[in-house]
Amino acid sequence: MSTTVKAAIFSARGEAPRVGEVALPEPGPGQVRVRLSAAGACHSDLSLSNGTLPQPMPAVLGHEGAGTVEAVGPDVEDVPLGQQVVLNWAPPCRSCWFCGNGEPHLCERSSDAAQRPYAQLPDGTPVYAGLGTGAFAEATVVPANAVVPTPDGVDPGAAALLGCAMLTGWGAVTKSATVAAGESVAVVGLGGVGLATLQAARLAGADPVIAVDLSPAKEELARELGATHFVTSSDTLSKEVRGLTGGRGVDHAFEVVGASATIRAAWGMTRRGGTTTVVGVGAKDDMVNFSALELFHFARTLRGCVYGSSDPDRDIPVLAAHVRDGDLDLASMVTDEIGLDDVPGAFQRMRDGKGGRSLIRF
Ligand code: APR
Ligand code: ZN
Repeated sequence: MSTTVKAAIFSARGEAPRVGEVALPEPGPGQVRVRLSAAGACHSDLSLSNGTLPQPMPAVLGHEGAGTVEAVGPDVEDVPLGQQVVLNWAPPCRSCWFCGNGEPHLCERSSDAAQRPYAQLPDGTPVYAGLGTGAFAEATVVPANAVVPTPDGVDPGAAALLGCAMLTGWGAVTKSATVAAGESVAVVGLGGVGLATLQAARLAGADPVIAVDLSPAKEELARELGATHFVTSSDTLSKEVRGLTGGRGVDHAFEVVGASATIRAAWGMTRRGGTTTVVGVGAKDDMVNFSALELFHFARTLRGCVYGSSDPDRDIPVLAAHVRDGDLDLASMVTDEIGLDDVPGAFQRMRDGKGGRSLIRF
């Protein structure tokens, strides 16, 4: 028995997806089937589609999703049918060394579901789910620990953003960098993840909150979401940001693009003793050069950041409370509501640096 659903199917690297049918198997032991209500298009999906990040094909991408549990595997007892859920693209096993060490975002087994096909095309070809989630489809089959109940009072569509952009950006500020009230912050790159980072910095009481993007069109939304300053990216970016902080640089710079040039720029705007947090996911061959001396000089810290060092089971309810209180704004981050057939349009807007998040509504 299988369930046939419509999905955006990526057949080859660099090619646009086509909407076609995928046959989902009945959920096996430890799995659940989720009927999607919404899915956001994240830059990581674009990177998986074009080979910047590795992805076996054919594939159904999409890892920022929310929906309703409509079937559960034989041994799944703790996920009720009809439960509204947010997808977690890095479900922790809760038993490896890292999980035991309180670092579920570094779980050794969190990407297991992405390694093997999860469904089939009508002709029997095995299909992979991007990041193990496959949210660019009417429904998906995921491990039972990859669903987090959608907290009450959060729009079931915008809830999708809790699963990647908001959790990653808020976690980067709150858990990875632990920004304190009154510290200065710069955010380089204002897509969905950067806008979430910006909001979290404002919520943490950071001041100033300097928003940076290549595209000047991002200024209005950035200011609406809490930026105190906006700087258009240029060759003199680091210097301009230092100029806004008494010549010193910011306490915390967040790189939310995923490229060596912006990592260097973020590093260059970080004050002596400050921290650069790399939230963006870049390519394997995009090398960042540092001299041995400059790593000593000025005692700056360069930090990587996976999923905002968050624990979705623990943190999604916390985020939802902030959304309900009006302290984090999911709705304004969604600038384009689209259908499943407009994933190419969403990817093009990301390439052009236009808008915030594009959200597929099913
Ligand atoms: N300087 C400043 N901003 C830049 C630059 C640059 N040189 N290059 C691109 N940008 C901006 C774009 O204009 C865009 O506003 O970065 C933003 C990226 O936004 P999205 O494409 O929407 O990306 P997003 O989904 O937010 O992801 C950002 O985080 O999770 C990772 O893989 C993801 O690496 C990606 C990053
Ligand atoms: Zn993402």
